[in-house]
Amino acid sequence: MKNNELPVFTNAARAEDIAATLLESGAVIVADFLARDTLDAFNREMDGPLSRERPDRQFMTPDYDYFFGTRTRHLTGLSGRSEIFREQIMRHALYSALCETILLPHCATYQFNYGHVFEIAPGARRQPLHRDGDCWSYLPVAFDVEVASIVALSDFTADNGATLVIPGSHRWPREKALDYSEALPAVMPAGAALLYLGGTAHAAGDNRTTQDLRRGMHVSFCLGWLRTEENNYLVSPIEEVRKFPRRTQELLGYQAHDASPAGGCLGVYNMLDPVELMSDDQFRFRDQS
Ligand SMILES: [Fe+2]
Repeated sequence: MKNNELPVFTNAARAEDIAATLLESGAVIVADFLARDTLDAFNREMDGPLSRERPDRQFMTPDYDYFFGTRTRHLTGLSGRSEIFREQIMRHALYSALCETILLPHCATYQFNYGHVFEIAPGARRQPLHRDGDCWSYLPVAFDVEVASIVALSDFTADNGATLVIPGSHRWPREKALDYSEALPAVMPAGAALLYLGGTAHAAGDNRTTQDLRRGMHVSFCLGWLRTEENNYLVSPIEEVRKFPRRTQELLGYQAHDASPAGGCLGVYNMLDPVELMSDDQFRFRDQS
């Protein structure tokens, strides 16, 4: 395995420069992605719910069971669990800038795809190398459909299983074999983020320590006309969603994808844009009788 040679930026860097490097290399690290107080407050919120999750839980399919193993606690539905997640992390200015540059050329609006906190215990084995964008493997497109990230909520070290990334693999032909010998560990301190593309091959590494829990978080965005990995409409009751800021509602997918005049609209309700109906006190969802 090579040493950590992934490009490293800070929040002070120009978003255009980060986007250009991300498009070229498929992965970059932003060292100070989350402010210390945001990181600490979010971790405190996650402590209790994470401790109640079983690492040996079952998933939807045996493939998922194998992929996630039995040494990791998982928390999803983050937009409903945490205002810090919803308003400070999901709406981080760098995510917006990267999505505007990388996703907006291929959609009318982009959307939040998935948020997932994980805590990986010692003894966890590495994941298979994979591409997150293969969720949409039926899609015959050659452009980027997803901007993804792994945010370090604790220090990521080579020993505790820092995410393994293969730079450049987002542009490889899909039939090319993925090999761990090509991967770099995303060694980074708590608060840093590994930003990558849906086509970039990566995997969680082995946690070879005896007592070092590695806590991190996947956060991703995709084109507005794709189905999202997490069903974000089921995360919060509609009455709660109506209290969220409009931009938050839009990112969570309550905004119709309006491709007119070139095409039609997706995600409409009563033939209207749901996000417009959210602020209409007189309008009642699910009451059309
Ligand atoms: Fe992944």
